[in-house]
Amino acid sequence: MISVKKLTKTYRIARPQEGRFAALRSLVRPQYTVCRAVDGIDFDIQDGEVVGYIGQNGAGKSTTIKMLSGILVPDSGSVEVDGLTPHVDRKAHLQNIGVVFGQKTSLWWDVPVIDSLRILKEMYRIGEGQFRKNLEMFCGLLDLDSFLGQPVRQLSLGQRVRADLAAALMHDPQILFLDEPTIGVDVVAKERLREFILEINRERKVTVLLTTHDMVDMEKLVDRVIVINAGSILYDGGIQGLRERYGRQRRMELEFEGEPPEISLPGVQAGKQKDGKFVVTFAQGQYAVDEILSHIRQGGVPIRDITIQNADIEQIVRDIYREGGRE
Ligand SMILES: Nc1ncnc2c1ncn2[C@@H]1O[C@H](COP(=O)(O)OP(=O)(O)OP(=O)(O)O)[C@@H](O)[C@H]1O
Ligand SMILES: [Mg+2]
Repeated sequence: MISVKKLTKTYRIARPQEGRFAALRSLVRPQYTVCRAVDGIDFDIQDGEVVGYIGQNGAGKSTTIKMLSGILVPDSGSVEVDGLTPHVDRKAHLQNIGVVFGQKTSLWWDVPVIDSLRILKEMYRIGEGQFRKNLEMFCGLLDLDSFLGQPVRQLSLGQRVRADLAAALMHDPQILFLDEPTIGVDVVAKERLREFILEINRERKVTVLLTTHDMVDMEKLVDRVIVINAGSILYDGGIQGLRERYGRQRRMELEFEGEPPEISLPGVQAGKQKDGKFVVTFAQGQYAVDEILSHIRQGGVPIRDITIQNADIEQIVRDIYREGGRE
């Protein structure tokens, strides 16, 4: 279980000074501005949950992950992961967690992937049997075979993240922190990464906290979402609840047996898009789908096909930001 209470982290950023001898003065008496990257957040994560941690650039996501991993020491508040305080009980904590930063590999740059994995085997004192079993499983699920012998610096981004994921899980941690694991990865590789994460959660009951800017990740991976903005939590709850609370817009795509009819209902936008699709958007609370459809049928043009989509999560998050920004 992960438990975070009133967790705060500030960074001191040296402020450039102006005028004569500015560089010298900065050296002698540096001036700082304080950035409250994480500003008193609380949450608990139960064993086996997959939680999405989302927010705009600079919201404080990576800073939180770094405190949870024991890389950064909090200013105040408490963080406990499976009964341990990450930055205090560092060594024991590292046995319990796996961490992947999509932006930065934790593998040895010039060393073949398989050798990196063997180094980790020694570091974590992983038995030969466990090592082989995991290697086989990860090679199968992540398709590592073709590049196991290559040094990390030669790998494509998608390959590198897959290698990083395997490395993070070699010692069988029960908790996995993923900071933008799918960043910059192509659609096919993303899908494979997602399937892998789900599989690990299902098969091994690994708890996963992941940050992402990819809303498809959210839809496919997580049950619960924590939204952070400027260091504070704006929303913590089910992804369904998030849609209900903020997902006001619904979107309907229609195909007609002929020219689309005119649709004139107050508050409803309708029209052909560039790609030729006829799209109708409306507020969830204002109209029922049936009302919209019966209005369209009055036009007398038969409908060939309909798809109805829930609100795009990205839009939802923007809405929350807007509300959060009002304070
Ligand atoms: N090492 C550092 N020194 C000073 N300020 C930092 C440092 N790391 C982060 N910050 C600042 O702290 C704030 C939070 O940064 P953080 O990296 O946690 O954001 P994030 O939510 O992960 O953003 P992104 O989506 O861009 O990865 C930002 O304002 C950032 O500029
Ligand atoms: Mg980040």
